[in-house]
Formats: sequence, structure tokens, C-alpha cells
Amino acid sequence: MKPIQVGLLGAGTVGSGTFKVLKRNQEEIKRRAGRGIEIAMVADIDTARAREVAGEGVKVVSDAREVIANPEIDIVIELIGGYGIAKQLVLEAIAAGKHVVTANKALLAVHGTEIFAAAHARGVMVAFEAAVAGGIPIIKALREGLTANSIQWLAGIINGTTNFILSEMRDKGLDFATVLKEAQRLGYAEADPTFDIEGVDAGHKVTLMSALAFGIPVQFDKAHIEGITKLAAQDIKYAEQLGYRIKLLGVTKRTAKGIELRVHPSLVPSKRLLANVEGAMNAVVVHGDAVGTTLYYGKGAGSEPTASAVIADLVDITRLHTADAAHRVPHLAFHPDALSDLQVLPMSEVVTSYYLRLRVADQAGVLAKVTGLLATAGISIDAVLQREADEVGGEGSTQTDLIILTHDAREGTVNDVLAELQALPTVLEPIVRIRKEELS
Ligand code: HSE
Repeated sequence: MKPIQVGLLGAGTVGSGTFKVLKRNQEEIKRRAGRGIEIAMVADIDTARAREVAGEGVKVVSDAREVIANPEIDIVIELIGGYGIAKQLVLEAIAAGKHVVTANKALLAVHGTEIFAAAHARGVMVAFEAAVAGGIPIIKALREGLTANSIQWLAGIINGTTNFILSEMRDKGLDFATVLKEAQRLGYAEADPTFDIEGVDAGHKVTLMSALAFGIPVQFDKAHIEGITKLAAQDIKYAEQLGYRIKLLGVTKRTAKGIELRVHPSLVPSKRLLANVEGAMNAVVVHGDAVGTTLYYGKGAGSEPTASAVIADLVDITRLHTADAAHRVPHLAFHPDALSDLQVLPMSEVVTSYYLRLRVADQAGVLAKVTGLLATAGISIDAVLQREADEVGGEGSTQTDLIILTHDAREGTVNDVLAELQALPTVLEPIVRIRKEELS
């Protein structure tokens, strides 16, 4: 049988890896797919680069619309990124009856509802394994492997750049800005790292996983997003002394009130496997009612790891494209007419535990006042650590750090009590609040 014909939009790092892996493993991939898979056409504004990536026998064009218009092409791989032209091209490819494979988490997290609806109406597949955690088959796991489960929660380290930075901050005791510069020099962080360090990239990924886990529409606009730019080396050190590591987590949970959907730095107990995911690696923990807790670990980015996910999608589509559209795996794991209207909760309704650091005057009654206000708000304390004033502010210092770990509390209640604590004359600096996930 003639190989299925693929058109590639964007011949960058992942496109290059896709060519290499498809070529290297072509026989095995064919035995799995039941048919050869051939990238017949590549579009990139840099045609010289595209020609180099594609090699002989592949048509190279500068206009992506030539690929979409080609009736021979069955599948379009979109590796352009962003919400601009990529959105137009994906919608045009769908309208032209092409199946789409994309690594574009931003596009799907923000415009997924429109894109999946268009694909459903046209009877084509939009596959996006490469959009979340690179080479880790987490989309496959959520959509198929865990399909028997009522998924309760998932939490992931889903941004390698920030995990690299946090690992370096902990290992070397350096501050954020210094490590960011080093990460940029080593190529771990982009020249403009905003999406990574502000948690937006992780927000896109957890939004997609939340939709798959709970059968809700993709709702990036409802996600609570905080990055790592304000994290101090001091808090990483204190957390360590209390038996925790700080990780940027994407968390989504089913609760009686609705769905939690959030990205923020979190204390994770050092003994948890997730706390020991270091450097640029990614990992996702998923808890299902039947299976219990499962862990998925691997490279979240890079040429061949991401190509591994792109090609897995190509194989899936090759196997399924002749199947009746109604009998394919639904894009978001649940059939589109069976999505849930469970609401994504505002952050004030999230219930979690907290690390609080207060720089206070080292005088009688301060600790009692602080714990008293927490008690009045109904917030239970799990642990307290107080440093010696000399250690914190140098010899003769009259200030100290008070570190408090709380049990679970409602975020809105914590916000209120933090405002009261901040107003105390003995609280000398802005209070640091970092959420804590026990993941048990
Ligand atoms: N920039 C991402 C990361 C990889 O650092 O993990 C692509 O999503």
C-alpha cells in the first residue's frame, strides 16, 4: 500500500527530529502502523533550512498553504507554534479534510474548543501528544490507558526550563536571576523565557491534561498561573530544612465544588518521587480511583523526544483514519456531547496547605500573636520553624524569620489572614506564601 502522505509545517528542531526518527525506524514504524509513513512535503519560510532537514525527494515550499492545498497530503504536522498563523493554518487544514498533528500547547489550550469542534464537524483527527511533556506519552495514558478510572487529581513538573532553574537554585544556593542567566547561556532557557518562567507554558499543558482527565472543555483563561520569578533561595533552603523541595507544579483536582486548575511553585515532600525529578526532566503523577497513583517520567522537550510523540500520533492516525469517525478515540477522551459542565474553581476556593515565611521583630508575644490570628481564622498549624536572629540578620539582629507550615485551608481564608498578619507592626517585610502539596 502507498505510504500515508504527510505535510510538515515548520522545519525546526522537532521537524528535524521527526525526519531522523522516521527514517531510522521506518521498518518498525511501518510494521506497527500497517503502512509506511512518508513526509512528502515541507513548508518553511527558510527553504534552505527545510531542504537540509528534509533531504532528497521531499518537496520544499515556503508557503504552508501549498501543503494544505495538496490533495495528496493526508496528514498535516503543525510545528510552527503560537496562536497567530498556526491557528489559521490548522483550521484551514481541518477544513481541507486533513488530519492534524500538532505540538502547539498554546494554540490548543486557548483555542482548543474551536479547533476540536471544527475537527469533529469535518470528521478529522487533531492529535497532540507532543504538546504536553514532550516524549512522555501522557496524553495516551490519560485518554486511553486510564480510561477505566475516575481520575481524582494529577500534578506535574511539565516545564523543563523552570525545573532546571529550581534544581540549580537548590544545588548551588544561587538566586533566580543568576541561574536564569546561566540557563540561557547553556541553552536551557530561551532568550525570551517569559512563557516558561511565568508558568504560562505549564498552564497550557495542565489545562489540556485537565480537560482530558475530567472531560471538561479546555479553559486556559480559568487557570491560576504563577511562575518562579519571585522565589528566593532562602525559601528553598528553609523548605529543605523542613523536608520539602520546591517545584513548579501544574495541578488539577476534582473536588466536590468543582475543578482546581493551577500552576504555582509548591513545596513537595522530599521523599516523593516527584520531588526528585531534577534538571530539565518532566514528570506527571496521576491518581485514579481504580489504579491508584501512577507516575510518568521522561524528557519534556528536545528534538527526538518530541519527535517520538509526533510520530506516535502519525501512527495512531495511520491506523485509524479509515475508521468511522464516531469510533475513533475522542479528542478530549470524552465524547464531545458528553463533556461535563463542572466549573473551574476560582483560586480563592482552592483548598491546599501552605508554607508561610514572616520576617518579624524578634520580641515577646510575636509568635503568639501570629499563631493566634491563624487560630481565629481556623487555620491549623502543621509545623513552625524559627531561626535565631543572628543567623538571619547578622550579629545583634533584632529581626528573625518565622516559618509556618499549615494544614489544609481555603485560599480565600488564607488571603484574609495574611492581610491581617501583614498589617501587624511586628511583621517587617512582605509575607512569603508558597503552597504545599503532599501528593499522598
Ligand atoms: N519550553 C518548554 C520547557 C518545552 O521548558 O519545558 C516546550 O514546551
